[in-house]
Order: sequence, then C-alpha cells, then structure tokens
Amino acid sequence: MQYLLGVDLGTSGTKTVLFDLAGNAISSKTIEYPLYQPANGWAEQDPSDWWNATCNGIKYVVNESGIDTSGIAGIGLSGQMHGLVMLDKNGIILRNSIIWCDQRTDNECQQMNKIIGEKRLIEITANPALTGFTASKILWVQNNEPEVYEKCAHILLPKDYIRYMLTGEFATEMSDASGMQLMDIPNRCWSDEILYKFNIDKSMLGKIYESPDITGKVHRRAADLTGLREGTIVVGGAADNSAAAVGTGVVRAGNAFTTIGTSGVIYAISDEVSIDIKGRVHTFCSAVPGKWTVMSCTLGAGLSLKWLRDTCCSEEMMEAEKLGVDPYVVMNTLAEKIMPGAGGLVYLPYLMGERSPHPDPYCRGVFFGLSASHNRANMIRAVMEGVAFSQLECVDVFKEMRVNVEEMIACGGGGRSPVWRQMLADMYGCPVSTIKADEGPAFGVAILAGVGAGIYDSVENACDNLVIKNSIQKPNLSTRKVYDEYYQLYKKLYVDLEGSFKYLSKLPK
Ligand code: XUL
Repeated sequence: MQYLLGVDLGTSGTKTVLFDLAGNAISSKTIEYPLYQPANGWAEQDPSDWWNATCNGIKYVVNESGIDTSGIAGIGLSGQMHGLVMLDKNGIILRNSIIWCDQRTDNECQQMNKIIGEKRLIEITANPALTGFTASKILWVQNNEPEVYEKCAHILLPKDYIRYMLTGEFATEMSDASGMQLMDIPNRCWSDEILYKFNIDKSMLGKIYESPDITGKVHRRAADLTGLREGTIVVGGAADNSAAAVGTGVVRAGNAFTTIGTSGVIYAISDEVSIDIKGRVHTFCSAVPGKWTVMSCTLGAGLSLKWLRDTCCSEEMMEAEKLGVDPYVVMNTLAEKIMPGAGGLVYLPYLMGERSPHPDPYCRGVFFGLSASHNRANMIRAVMEGVAFSQLECVDVFKEMRVNVEEMIACGGGGRSPVWRQMLADMYGCPVSTIKADEGPAFGVAILAGVGAGIYDSVENACDNLVIKNSIQKPNLSTRKVYDEYYQLYKKLYVDLEGSFKYLSKLPK
C-alpha cells in the first residue's frame, strides 16, 4: 500500500495527516503550542515548538495507523505564511519567529515605501508594504536587533524551517515565498532590485521551487526522530491558504474559497497576474504551477469568536462539557436564535489590527450599538456577522478587479458552522458548499506530494478525482436585504473611527 503525508503548521498547532491514495485520512494528529505576545500587537512563536509538534505528530500517525513507513510515497508541508525564522550559519535558531499577525513593523513599512516607492513596490511584489509580511519583519530586526541580524545566515518561512529540519535543505516554494514581499511576482523569482534596496543577501534565501517539485529527502537524523524512512521525498508544498485551495479543489479560474480559521481568507485562482493597485488584497503565485491567486486576509476572524468564548462564555463552555460537545456548538445554537442584525449590534473584528481591505495596524475591535437588552447570544451573533461582513468587503474588491467568484467553498473551523456558512451564502449572494475531506491544507499538500511522487499527473487532475463536495447552502434573498442595510453601517464605522483608532494607539496602556 502507498500513502501520502501532509503536515500543516498552523498558528494554534501542527496537524499531521496520513492519507491513502484515494484521499482518505487514515490517521490524524494535531499538537498545539503557545503564541507569545511580548507587547501589544506583537506575536511570536518558538520554531522548536513547531519541530517538536511535527516529530510527535508524525510518530503518532505512523504508530496509530500501524503502516510500514516505506509505503509513504511523499511528504507535503504547509504552514502559516510570512513568519520570519532566522538561523545562524550552523542552522541554530537566533530568535523567536515574528509571525504573520505581528503588527510591530509600521515604521519599517514606511521605510520600504520610501526606499522603493509605493507604486514600484506593488508593481514588483504585487502587494503594498504590509506589517504582516516578512520583508518588514526582516527590516525590523535590521533596525532593532542588529546583533541578531549580523549573525543571520538563513532566512526561512515557518514550514520551510520544518523542511530544513527534515532534509537539511534551505528551500521554499512559489506560494509561500510570494508572501515574503521579496519576490518579483509576475516573473516568479526573487527580485534583485528589492533585495539590493533592502540590503538582504540573496544567499540567505532558499531556492524557490514550484509547489509539487521535489525539494529534498528525509535524512538519517530526522528519520530516527520521526520514524520516517530515510530518503522519503519532501515536495515544495504550499502556504496554508494555497494548500487549502488545492485541498478544496480551488485550482481553476472562477473557483474560490473562504476560510474562517484564526484569520479569515478569501482565495480565488486566476490564469494571469491581476493586481489591486490600491493594495487592498494580495496577489500571489499559486501552488498550481504557472497560475496566480488573488487573496484577502482579515486578521481577527475565528480569533474573534475564540476571544469571545475565552473571555465571556464560561457558561457555554460548562454547558458544552456537560453535553460532551465543542463549546462552539453551544455558541452556534445561541446565535441561531437571534435574528439577522444581532438585535442592532454590530461588531468590527479588528482585534489584531487589520489587513484586508484596510491595511491598518492601529484599528481595534468594536461592539457598536450595545444596549442593556443585549446578552451573550447577541454578542455571539454580532461577532459572527461582523466577521462575515469583513469577508464581504473583500469579495467586493475581487469584483472590482474582475476576479470572478461563481461558487464559494467554506473551510476552516468557521466553515464547519452551518450558521456561519448560511450568513456567508446570504451576504455573498452565491452558493456556499463544503468539502467531504475536512483536512484542508494537510490534504492539499498531500495531493502535491502525490503529484511530485508521480502518482497523479497534474494538480488539476488529482483534484478532479479526489476532492468531493458536500451539499450546498443557497442564499436566502430576504435575509440578504437585512444584511445589506447592516453592511452599509458596518463599512461606515471603519471610516468614521479610523482617526480615533490612531489616537487610541498613542494613549498610555
Ligand atoms: C495570509 C496570512 C494568514 C496566515 C495564517 O496572508 O497571513 O492566513 O497564513 O495562517
């Protein structure tokens, strides 16, 4: 028997899944690790936590399934994008990784615009200077920790650190490297102009492969630590969102998905490079060789509901424990009982600042319209609606760019909620479905590993055979009308509050 292994290095944990060649998950394990927030708006993780979670996850799925690891035909790696991993010349970690949702680099973004020019930066990297992306994080270390930068010999993305630990290779692939803001996106290569102007030596960066390409083989030490066979191939894999796209069959123009994970993402495929000159959404190279994607990313999607659960919903958590269900199931039931509009309560999901469509590190979360008649059920519904409105604002930008969205696949933790999916269908005005295999990015990179191992002949054909859709939720037009009215208010609130957010950021805390 042959198998494929997908490893998805997320923000809350690493998920390792073993698949058979028909795409069935044989065994799966998620191992969590901490997120460090040393200051307001900062976010860091320890790369050794990622590596330990990967080793233990692989050991677990191998043991649980009882398979012979010589049957694993290939490994695909997926991971949170943009995180900065710095290693010295001996491959030792120099500092914690500054990860995607860290917002400390506003000054460095301004520095980038000054050095390159806003327009030129978008022309080359297809994105505006962003606090979330890797380039500004590298400049932050150059500016604030020069002694660390001096020792830095290798710059890697989170999942590419795992590749290094598994194979000894310093390499990356198109979809994730696109989010470093160091690439020439239309030409699919590192940009010499950007690297020169940011004073980054190209030798620090890995070689960029297409996602299904073989990038290395598991070496002896990693084989001993994980139980894998030495010599097992590791393909490029993909950024979490691009991997989720493959895992949900979003591999052709017109296909799109919405993920509500910690962040909220809308992702659509395009055959040509299409760039938003206002920089409200991203353009990246796709994991499908030779294609591109348009993608939006809001920072506080699932995070908002998790925050509400952890800060206000201990009763719901206790109730869930009694019933033996996930606390989100109880919260969903409460939300369902409230009418669209949440009883006149509007939530802005800017707990970590925002990226799409308002790149703004200073904005913060808001409940607008709170009254004594509201209770936690209204707040839960308002949070879910606010997150859905923030996705709708991004879809509106896609439409302006003439990127067609005919049908939406919903995934991530939030995609599992029928209430949230119906909100999305009603607001987008298009059908929303889910995929049978619930393994998202891990499934996507297992498919890429299968292509790299020569089992499937192309990403598109593999997806046609392996990705199966579940039932579709259709938009309800009368609800849409109510949402439309609230949406106008939702959009206005950011515009009205933008200056106040900045003022608040300067107050003592
Ligand atoms: C995408 C982004 C997030 C991370 C987290 O640009 O920052 O989706 O990849 O998973």
